[in-house]
Amino acid sequence: MAPSLVERTVDDIAESVHKKDKNQSSYKEAFSQRAATTNYEAEINSSEKAPPAKYPNYLPYWDDVKYPPYESFDAYEHGKDADPKFSNLFASGVTGVQLSKLNRAGQDELALFVAQHKVVAFRAQDFADLPIQEALDFAEYYGPSHIHQTSGAPKGFPRVHLVHRSASDTTAKDYFEERTNSVTWHTDVSFEMQPPGTTFLYLLDGPPAGGDTLFGNMVEAYKRLSPKFRKRLHGLQAVHSGHEQAQAATARGSIYRREPVSNVHPIVRTHPATGEKALYVNPQFTRRIVGFKKEESDYLLKFLYDHIALSADLQCRVKWAEGTVVVWDNRVTAHSAILDWQDGQRRHLARLTPRAERPFETPFVTPEQEVK
Ligand SMILES: [Fe+2]
Repeated sequence: MAPSLVERTVDDIAESVHKKDKNQSSYKEAFSQRAATTNYEAEINSSEKAPPAKYPNYLPYWDDVKYPPYESFDAYEHGKDADPKFSNLFASGVTGVQLSKLNRAGQDELALFVAQHKVVAFRAQDFADLPIQEALDFAEYYGPSHIHQTSGAPKGFPRVHLVHRSASDTTAKDYFEERTNSVTWHTDVSFEMQPPGTTFLYLLDGPPAGGDTLFGNMVEAYKRLSPKFRKRLHGLQAVHSGHEQAQAATARGSIYRREPVSNVHPIVRTHPATGEKALYVNPQFTRRIVGFKKEESDYLLKFLYDHIALSADLQCRVKWAEGTVVVWDNRVTAHSAILDWQDGQRRHLARLTPRAERPFETPFVTPEQEVK
């Protein structure tokens, strides 16, 4: 083989790896959908492979409307008003809850119940069949909706975040050409100044097997650390960045709706209703511990990420079924989707994402003081 040919091939590889790795940092995108990967024809009319989408009103669109930067607002925590006996939430028993029928007291109790239990899967719900505006009205009791900077949204409803892979989408194969796994522990859009609290995700259409969602309890992750280590984490803050997500969208020829931002949050945040402390870092969006040099920051963050990812004994795995609505508190949990179902099968979910307070920290207390 001629040397010049070898050199050119190596150079090509170097250039293509450089292009792929550019701007990624620790941000990882297993679900990189865009208009070009959404086969609307097959989604609406069915194809040889799959029936039409069950909820065409929820098909994703990427319009090019730009939104102004978020301004701060006074968040109200409804979990604080809840009756801790949950008499409204469970008026029809634990399995009889129909979220859309809850009164305001029931909704307050839902916020507290979810904050205490971190993630709750409600089965046989009618959420997906409600007019989209009604579902949004329900969720917005908890706070104004977050408009995602890059994801697809139903026509006319930019405040709904969609997770959608067309039945004809084969990008999973491409993804695993480059990565060994699709696990992406994160808490949603933690780069915002006021990230989400009580959050809703509901299934519209799903594969017969696979596509579960992992959730981790970040209060328990904090408690597993020794008191001396916890004490060291208190007072530390970290930068969370939305820039890489926006850059990844641009790189795949998609859109971003708002100029990307970075914000600083405490590494240990306190929940306003329960007073519980939770680890609040994630490899998707957290970039640097403020005041630490890069190597110092990388080392400590890597330990915390490994701690979160490896602790299968503080995680649960939600299996989706028709009618399932999962409600979780983004302030005290981390989660990850899993890309493990067959290419050629549709998966379609909608998320309602009320924004909450700016993360805050309360002082470290010893386990002995906590008991008192
Ligand atoms: Fe998420």
